[in-house]
Amino acid sequence: MKKIQISPSILSADFSQLGNEIKRLEDAGADMIHVDVMDGHFVPNLTIGPPVIKALKKQSSILFDVHLMISPVHKYIKAYADAGADIITIHPEATDDLKSSISKIKELKRKVGVSLNPETKIDTIINFLEDINLVLIMSVNPGFGGQKFMPEVLSKIKELKKIQEEKKLNFDIEIDGGINFDNAKIAINAGANILVSGTTIFKSNNGDIKKNIELLKSN
Ligand code: DX5
Ligand code: ZN
Repeated sequence: MKKIQISPSILSADFSQLGNEIKRLEDAGADMIHVDVMDGHFVPNLTIGPPVIKALKKQSSILFDVHLMISPVHKYIKAYADAGADIITIHPEATDDLKSSISKIKELKRKVGVSLNPETKIDTIINFLEDINLVLIMSVNPGFGGQKFMPEVLSKIKELKKIQEEKKLNFDIEIDGGINFDNAKIAINAGANILVSGTTIFKSNNGDIKKNIELLKSN
């Protein structure tokens, strides 16, 4: 079984202190940093772009797990790779040609992630599983932090895990949205090995992020 990793979403961090917040997460034992990029078009919310990522990456050595919720995504992939994204995750609905967007991320020597919205089926990516490093299962509709976990996506994780074992593939399964101390274990048991969390990490236990990361891992 793969080691369980935690990818805190900086969407719930103090945006006036982002550099310090990332340092704090690194010190608290985060395995990577989840950066939610939103365009106000593919999703209703608007967040940060490449210059901010570039500035943050300069003062940090932790892996940047960049979740692109922007459309059309293809023409922006290079900008995020150049800014310092280590994992670049895209949504199939945000590109005209998933195959060429995956190839583009690979050409740029970044890890390829593909994300499935709660209503998006595994079939959408079944022919690409050999080419990707990570599948990000959305357990909320993307756009905002602090939403309620949708347990119906657990069956999709189980199905994906089964396909992975049958095909002897090695991609990571990451889950994103509404993860808390109650459902973390359920998501892990279903087959997820990377947990994204914003609200739980930054707001639980009076913002004791070290404790919250440990609790999510050990839960
Ligand atoms: C939602 C984002 C998530 C979200 C996670 O569109 O992709 O990464 O910020 O935050 P919580 O843990 O608060 O659901
Ligand atoms: Zn995300």
